[in-house]
Amino acid sequence: MKKLFVVLLVLLAASLAFGAGGQQQSGGGVTRGMDRKIVMGYSQIGAESEWRTACTNSVKAAAEEYNVELIFSDAQQKQENQMQAIRSFIRQKVDVIGFTPVVETGWDAILQEIKDAGIPVICVDRQVTLAAGKKQEDYITAFIGSNMELEAQKAVQWIVNYMKTTGNSRKKDDGKVDINVAILEGTTGSGAQVGRTAGWNKEIAKYPNYKTIFRQTGNFTRAEGQQVMEAWMKSPQANDIDVLFAQNDDMAIGAIDAVKAAGKKPGVDIIIVSIDAVKGAFDAMLRKELNATIECNPLLGPQVMDTAVKILNKQPITWWVESKESQFDWTNAETAYPSRQY
Ligand code: AHR
Repeated sequence: MKKLFVVLLVLLAASLAFGAGGQQQSGGGVTRGMDRKIVMGYSQIGAESEWRTACTNSVKAAAEEYNVELIFSDAQQKQENQMQAIRSFIRQKVDVIGFTPVVETGWDAILQEIKDAGIPVICVDRQVTLAAGKKQEDYITAFIGSNMELEAQKAVQWIVNYMKTTGNSRKKDDGKVDINVAILEGTTGSGAQVGRTAGWNKEIAKYPNYKTIFRQTGNFTRAEGQQVMEAWMKSPQANDIDVLFAQNDDMAIGAIDAVKAAGKKPGVDIIIVSIDAVKGAFDAMLRKELNATIECNPLLGPQVMDTAVKILNKQPITWWVESKESQFDWTNAETAYPSRQY
């Protein structure tokens, strides 16, 4: 009787740990690739764009898939909220910390605290800049994200080629005529803004007839992209804008509304190019209002979880595996649209 009772208890425990068909349930079990369940503290910067929402969803879905216990915190665009969340992850002794730094600087002290606590840290999407003489690699175990400089360089190449071959409703680029550009930048000081600005400046310097006539932040949001563009469209130089480069799709989509409200044709009177390749950008390209978008992949969750498992298993990792990305315009947007995941 006693033996039978013990056998029944063991069977009950096993059925609680595993679902039907031997599947481990998300509440218990072990993390995929590990011999135990791991806890990840994750500090996301907020929900400013379609891209960011896709990134958050990818991280959450991958945590489920890998059976990682995710302590997720939304910083609402504030660095101090990220600091608070990270300090609480340290107190909770999580196995690994993932975070996207809202801005590049100001992380030296907290990264030292994480290091002192012996917790590996994965930077996602945006990198940090530490005090002179300090290397990111000594504080951050891995970086997962895109090459922001390269994205902007691709945007310049697309614009220059289009202005030479097609142009806008008023002019084509013959190498001599001024091409006037308005630039909507992302959150000032963020890795995405810093990298994309550097990439743009480096590449556009090869084409001295390109003049920047407006440059302002739109904080990566649709609303601010629209507001800033509205102001530009009311200025005396409004008719001079040949090209708009927005450092993300959301700002471009907001700006398109402002261009239309000012009685101009986006995509024809003003050539508009942005970065991300979210669904909203595809919709705008199919309406022939956005000319092109350079892809920045937000589906980073699986790579984050996989890297965390490798780090905790002391397996070798590459510090940064750059995301492989494409670019889309009116020639390929329609074909690509059905297979887009975000
Ligand atoms: O850091 C990546 C950038 O941040 C994306 O381009 C933008 O849409 C987001 O908000």
